[in-house]
Amino acid sequence: MMNDTLTCVAEYEDVFKSRLEAIEWLYYVSGSDEEITLRQNREALKRLRIKPRLLRDVSRCDLTTSLLGQPVDFPIGIAPTAFHAVAHPDAEVATAKAAEKMRTCMILSTHANKSMEEVNEHAKTGLKWLNVYLFRNRTVTLDMVRRAENSQYKGLVFTIDNPTLGNLTRVYKDKESVLFATKVTDKHGYGHCAKYVKGYDMVPTEEDVLPADFNKRDQSATWEYVDWLRSQTNLPIIVKGVLTAEDATLAVNHGANAVIVSNHGGRALDSVPASIEALPEIARAIGNKVEVYFDGGIRNGIDVFKALALGARAVFVGRPILYGLAHSGEEGAKNILEILKTELHRTMAFTGCSSLSDIKPSLVVHESHYAKL
Ligand SMILES: Cc1cc2nc3c(=O)[nH]c(=O)nc-3n(C[C@H](O)[C@H](O)[C@H](O)COP(=O)(O)O)c2cc1C
Repeated sequence: MMNDTLTCVAEYEDVFKSRLEAIEWLYYVSGSDEEITLRQNREALKRLRIKPRLLRDVSRCDLTTSLLGQPVDFPIGIAPTAFHAVAHPDAEVATAKAAEKMRTCMILSTHANKSMEEVNEHAKTGLKWLNVYLFRNRTVTLDMVRRAENSQYKGLVFTIDNPTLGNLTRVYKDKESVLFATKVTDKHGYGHCAKYVKGYDMVPTEEDVLPADFNKRDQSATWEYVDWLRSQTNLPIIVKGVLTAEDATLAVNHGANAVIVSNHGGRALDSVPASIEALPEIARAIGNKVEVYFDGGIRNGIDVFKALALGARAVFVGRPILYGLAHSGEEGAKNILEILKTELHRTMAFTGCSSLSDIKPSLVVHESHYAKL
């Protein structure tokens, strides 16, 4: 199928299911427990209304910005998601090339099938950040940091919202599917992590029989872990997975250079707020000190506009990139970025915004604003 027959993320999402085996598709689309947060990430965005402003000269709209000092063509990057080889054989190499061509940022997952070094070889000029978890074994964390420094990664995305695995009920319904991630790494490789561990630990109850302690999260971790990471590297640290003003302030006090407001795409704790619900209080608390980014439920450029208006400097997209990859590899991922960029541009034209700094909070209201009518 030609790319140009698909014109929006929703169409890619529709064909996604047919490209994968049932368990692969479930792994990507699922959320935890009752999937309340997963659904609300979309629903809460839909509850917002845009107040258009007209006759403001939108003949030229500038979408360019910078992320921690690095220039990007538009404020939409790629969130870290595991195992891109399931979607396409070129895996994270294809994703990184798409981001490089579109001149935006890619965050490479800890759980990538391609290593950070290989990804860098194929997308040398692209802006790349590496995702790191709070591993129990800090030697592993440190080794990943050094490798990231040596292979031109410009930031460390420290994901803090996963002290344990989210309860993906639809995925973990039987023993076979619990082992899904182990099978994926056996089949497609385990990127930069291959040297630390043989397979992926997805069997919480059998933790003690698994090799090494790489995949075991440090459940005793406190903000001291962020202090420690800060003391080990000069790379910017972007703390991912924050949902309250209190934790956002702590992240800044412990040396974070930026924060990503995120609930892990509804895959961590269920019933936490939709990311867009949490964004305003976090932007108010720390937005004048560090850059605030956003992910969760972005499916079109209008969603991007809403997140920018409520205080995000940029947004990241997770599943939509996987839809594009599964459809047509690098081209598909690139097309997803292109679609979102075009839609944001259009939304800016309709709202009288010729630059990103024109996208003010006053342009977006909750639907209840109109309940008084
Ligand atoms: C299949 C899948 C795997 C993910 N793997 C990671 C990961 O390895 N590290 C991480 O920080 N977040 C991970 N996430 C969360 C994403 O980075 C991001 O927060 C989320 O997907 C954003 O929501 P969206 O998919 O609605 O755009 C994953 C999400 C999905 C769907």
